[in-house]
Amino acid sequence: MLENAQITILEVKDLKKFFPLKRGLFYKTVGYIKAVDGVSFSLRQGKTLGIVGESGSGKSTLAKLLIKILEPDAGEIFFRDKEITSLPEREFRKLRKSLSIVFQDPFSSLDPRFTVEKIILEGMELLKENKAEKRKRVFRLLEMVGLSYDALERFPHEFSGGQRQRISIARALASEPELVILDEPVSSLDLSIQAQMINLLIELQEKLKLSYIFIAHDLRVIRHLSDEVCVMYRGKILERAFSEEIFQNPLHPYTQTLFSSIPFIGKKTFISQTVTVEEEKPEDRLCRFLPRCGKKKTLCEENEPFLKEVLPHHFVSCWQC
Ligand SMILES: Nc1ncnc2c1ncn2[C@@H]1O[C@H](COP(=O)(O)OP(=O)(O)OP(=O)(O)O)[C@@H](O)[C@H]1O
Ligand SMILES: [Mg+2]
Repeated sequence: MLENAQITILEVKDLKKFFPLKRGLFYKTVGYIKAVDGVSFSLRQGKTLGIVGESGSGKSTLAKLLIKILEPDAGEIFFRDKEITSLPEREFRKLRKSLSIVFQDPFSSLDPRFTVEKIILEGMELLKENKAEKRKRVFRLLEMVGLSYDALERFPHEFSGGQRQRISIARALASEPELVILDEPVSSLDLSIQAQMINLLIELQEKLKLSYIFIAHDLRVIRHLSDEVCVMYRGKILERAFSEEIFQNPLHPYTQTLFSSIPFIGKKTFISQTVTVEEEKPEDRLCRFLPRCGKKKTLCEENEPFLKEVLPHHFVSCWQC
């Protein structure tokens, strides 16, 4: 385990994805939404990197870039030692089975025309196994995620939200991935079901030595699951540190606002999160949080900050930290 902890499974360098903002009768490009704007981080094997940020901060766009559902405008993604953004499709397919994603909404991400068996088998498409071996693994996966065998012939709409998310997880694990990107996998579920799913994810991670990128709004979940946390805001990472460090000592004014809106009762308990998404758009060349920041000084109005290490392994993008 100690040995694994040293291996970097994913490294992202200065990743960017801008979407054109079109307006008017002729649908003219009038600007760009900088959904992901210079994001860098790395993830060690068997660990979980939590990504937290309010709606529209670019979390899902980042997730899609990592598995090449979207192509970046700039930057590099190394999976193990292979740079994947420039990899030809044929080459990427060989790696594709090592990367999986679970989406937020288990209903729209499961094809309603397919039975559960077909959905999970589809996840094994890239594996070189015969039919009998694949079928055996479908059974094992169902068992792992806590579904009974009679689920196989049924369709997604016949299941509850929690059960559907178990199917999504089984499908994501079908290709025997090393890295699983979990884009808000529990946020559509009831609190009691959320806890079951989180425990299942932890159990599977230990059993299968998985590395996770865990995206969530819910700070309690992020704290519970993550080894390290990145706080995203309008396409940028504003703060990054080990989980306990960032929760005990949030330094960026945005992180402080975000965390203070959660009434913590003890270490891992919370009531609700009530951060409002404001519509103001700061100058792109300055700190994205400037219009909402209570601590701004002259320097903040002049130059854009960058992530710097202000404490050991605690990075903050703020002139005042
Ligand atoms: N295909 C697209 N075309 C144009 N703009 C997009 C597209 N996808 C995302 N965006 C924009 O990029 C920004 C980031 O969106 P993204 O879905 O990554 O946010 P998010 O952090 O996942 O939000 P949420 O927490 O609500 O899921 C938003 O402003 C969004 O409107
Ligand atoms: Mg999202």
